Amino acid sequence: MDALSLRKRFLEFFEQRGHTIVPSSSLVPDDPSVLLTTAGMQQFKPYYAELDPEKTIHPSIGKPVGLNVASCQKSFRTSDIDEVGDESHLTFFEMLGNFSFGGYFKKEAIAYAHEFLTKELGLTIAFVTVFEGKDSIGVPKDEESIALWKSLDPKLRVEEQGMEDVFWGPTGSSGPCGPTTEIYCKNAAGQDIEVWNIVFNQYFYPGSREELDAGVAGKKLELLKKPGVDTGMGLERLAMVAQKTDSVFETDLFPPGIVLIPQDIEDRIKRIIADHARATVFLLADGVRPSNKEAGYVLRRVVRRMLVYQFLYPSLRVESFLKEVQELFGKFYPEVKNTEIIFEFKKEEEKFQGTLERGLKELQRQDVIDAAAAFRLYESFGLPYEIIKEFGKERARELMREDFEKEFEKHQEISRAGKEGKFGGHGLILDTGELKAANEEELQVVTRLHTATHLLQAALRKVLGEGVHQAGSDITPERTRFDFTFDRKLTDEEVRQVELSVNEAIKQNLDMGYKEIPFHKAVALGALYSPREKYPDVVKVYSAQNPETGEAFSRELCGGPHVEHTLSIGKFHILKQESVGAGVRRIRARVEEAPAT
Ligand code: SER
Repeated sequence: MDALSLRKRFLEFFEQRGHTIVPSSSLVPDDPSVLLTTAGMQQFKPYYAELDPEKTIHPSIGKPVGLNVASCQKSFRTSDIDEVGDESHLTFFEMLGNFSFGGYFKKEAIAYAHEFLTKELGLTIAFVTVFEGKDSIGVPKDEESIALWKSLDPKLRVEEQGMEDVFWGPTGSSGPCGPTTEIYCKNAAGQDIEVWNIVFNQYFYPGSREELDAGVAGKKLELLKKPGVDTGMGLERLAMVAQKTDSVFETDLFPPGIVLIPQDIEDRIKRIIADHARATVFLLADGVRPSNKEAGYVLRRVVRRMLVYQFLYPSLRVESFLKEVQELFGKFYPEVKNTEIIFEFKKEEEKFQGTLERGLKELQRQDVIDAAAAFRLYESFGLPYEIIKEFGKERARELMREDFEKEFEKHQEISRAGKEGKFGGHGLILDTGELKAANEEELQVVTRLHTATHLLQAALRKVLGEGVHQAGSDITPERTRFDFTFDRKLTDEEVRQVELSVNEAIKQNLDMGYKEIPFHKAVALGALYSPREKYPDVVKVYSAQNPETGEAFSRELCGGPHVEHTLSIGKFHILKQESVGAGVRRIRARVEEAPAT
């Protein structure tokens, strides 16, 4: 049975049994505390406790979902990224699930699962697991589920397991949780595959899973008023069992062209490509774009890892796999057909191409690759951690993902804090994060540099084009340091033109003033802003404009402070340009003494 029919049969089965079918939510959840959607229950989480599923309008179906729902959910787990390449681990996957928020409980949930697998699909259940109980948290052995399974199939093997395997949740900082029962089937190779996880959300825990495991004082499981059901069945695993293959990669849920990859390329790499191609298409389809932060950083890593393999094995054409994924999934998920997906992929490919080869050479030159060295390779050449670890081999033996991430964070803190060392973090009369000054004199200089930085951004966009966006800025009395998106070194002529353009704006003695206007108006006026920042409804827009014609040289959302007239900036001088990693350049500049007025 093909995957399209498996999805359809599942959803129809539950629709016929009184469930509302709810479309998959985006991989990028509304909840900003969660990076990506990791399970089907995520979009329904509030229905188990605070929201009324019979009254609250669900945004994607425009009416309340009712007590019972079913879905096929796009999901993404970064926790397994290091295991991808073996026979079963994936980043992106689909999860079939039925859920109940007080409508039914163990009896129906177990009976539905049994009927769907054995009758509807004609599969054989190898065995099931149930919770063995844990006194210290006050949860008894799940005798009820044991009895229910036995009543459906007296010969079925029922195994008892503990917290680690068959107690789900809570996800995040608190939430519903409870014992589970898991269903295993055999694949064609005779291995036991866990296909379906049925969670009985009986409890609410006012803390995280770590706190629950540690038994934090003062936090106890509370019984939910209405116990609920949350089930999840991995579609890839179900397809492997239903299509009788040895691994998920041979099912019709993976790009078929993988089998054409020459034999001398190891299977592990083929599987990584098969997984990452799906991950890339689905992340891009949900609006994620490669970046150095959050979901964008996950996307960048999977794309770049594929690009490294493509560089090493030119017969691997990543783009063709992406197109196969679009073709495979377009019927069920129309969003994956978006033509921007290939366009965005190519943009990232172009950006990375410039540094990839040099980065790999540099990687080979390093003797010992610790977290700091690995981070430098990422920062300067855009090499993802996974590649550094793999190709660093013995030299990167001690390199751990956690340490690398720590280095990452440390670096972000350093750039945020700017010259903390110099200021010792104390005695500043101004510290906006971007601007720092210890006394009145310094305040005047950084204010002049600040206005000059606005003019610099405008000039860069005039000379290099509108693809230039601010990527960071740090201003001390000695200099302004401005990072911006641009993927090559500026020519000397371009640097000269930028400097000239800023100095001309200064000489025109433009007015530098601000207006407080609604954010959306500011955007409509073309004021520059940082999409990563959160702005209030009403914002300050600083414009450097000609007092007579009103024509603006620069407009930016900003909190100030700025000079009132550009002539008081003095002469602007670019000190140097540098690269800060793939696709980002840095300019350092200062201002000379302001002319006496
Ligand atoms: N939330 C559970 C899981 O992800 C069941 O859907 O496995």
